[in-house]
Amino acid sequence: MTDLSGKVAVVTGAGSGIGKGVALTLGRAGAAIGVLDRNRASAEAVAADLTAQGIKALAVVADVADVAMVEAAFAKVVAAFGEIDILFNNAGIDNSVDLVDMSEAVWDEMIRVNLRSLFVCTRAVLPGMKRKGWGRIINTASQSAYKGAPGMVHYCATKAGVLGFTRALAYEVIGDGITVNAIAPGPIDTPIKDTLPPEWVKAKVEGTPIRRFGTVDEVAPTVLLLAGDGGAYYVGACLNMNGGDHMA
Ligand code: NAI
Repeated sequence: MTDLSGKVAVVTGAGSGIGKGVALTLGRAGAAIGVLDRNRASAEAVAADLTAQGIKALAVVADVADVAMVEAAFAKVVAAFGEIDILFNNAGIDNSVDLVDMSEAVWDEMIRVNLRSLFVCTRAVLPGMKRKGWGRIINTASQSAYKGAPGMVHYCATKAGVLGFTRALAYEVIGDGITVNAIAPGPIDTPIKDTLPPEWVKAKVEGTPIRRFGTVDEVAPTVLLLAGDGGAYYVGACLNMNGGDHMA
């Protein structure tokens, strides 16, 4: 059993899907949770749900790529619960358009939300983790970082970037007792699925050996492993839960 009693975790994109499930899982393991999302209503609903289950939780609203908003949100978490021990960089967006038709705005927003966010959020927590000599950074990549996906050049580029970020930073901070790792989910049944064309979803199911989408409950235990002392020997790793969509 992973015991996170006394730890403080921030989960980005915690208002929905994978982030919501991981917030609950880390909270049940004893961590106090900063429930960060740009959607105030969903962040507050998740925080209220966790609190009702006896978990210390605080909703904080920020755009993960906005330095001032992120620093203000993290300061609220630190004031409420103490220095942040665990950061789950999970907020992300997804959409589908062929590169030839892609506008600069669509490309830039994907890079901003899915990649710049890791720089902004991680830089903000590292000084506190270094002071403590303990920390966990866990980043959500995607199996599409490895295998690509049609209509998703921008998305796949960000998720491959997440892996590069993870490995490079892992070198920099392991000497401070901080591990940096990633997860690369395959198709998971969350609201992000609704942003994808139905024919894409159908083809994905047919092309995945397990022939179904995964569930959030099939992702969260891996994040819990990486967040606890039992995950201490994972350094710059990427753990793939993907129903066989990409075997590595
Ligand atoms: P979701 O759409 O259910 O949840 C994403 C959450 O992030 C939402 O609550 C949204 O409000 C928040 N968010 C989006 N942009 C934000 C921003 N700029 N600032 C703050 N919050 C923001 O999506 P899901 O499926 O839970 O995805 C979570 C992560 O998992 C994403 O990084 C996604 O790329 C990744 N992923 C998802 C897969 C899937 O099949 N669902 C597969 C592989 C990776």
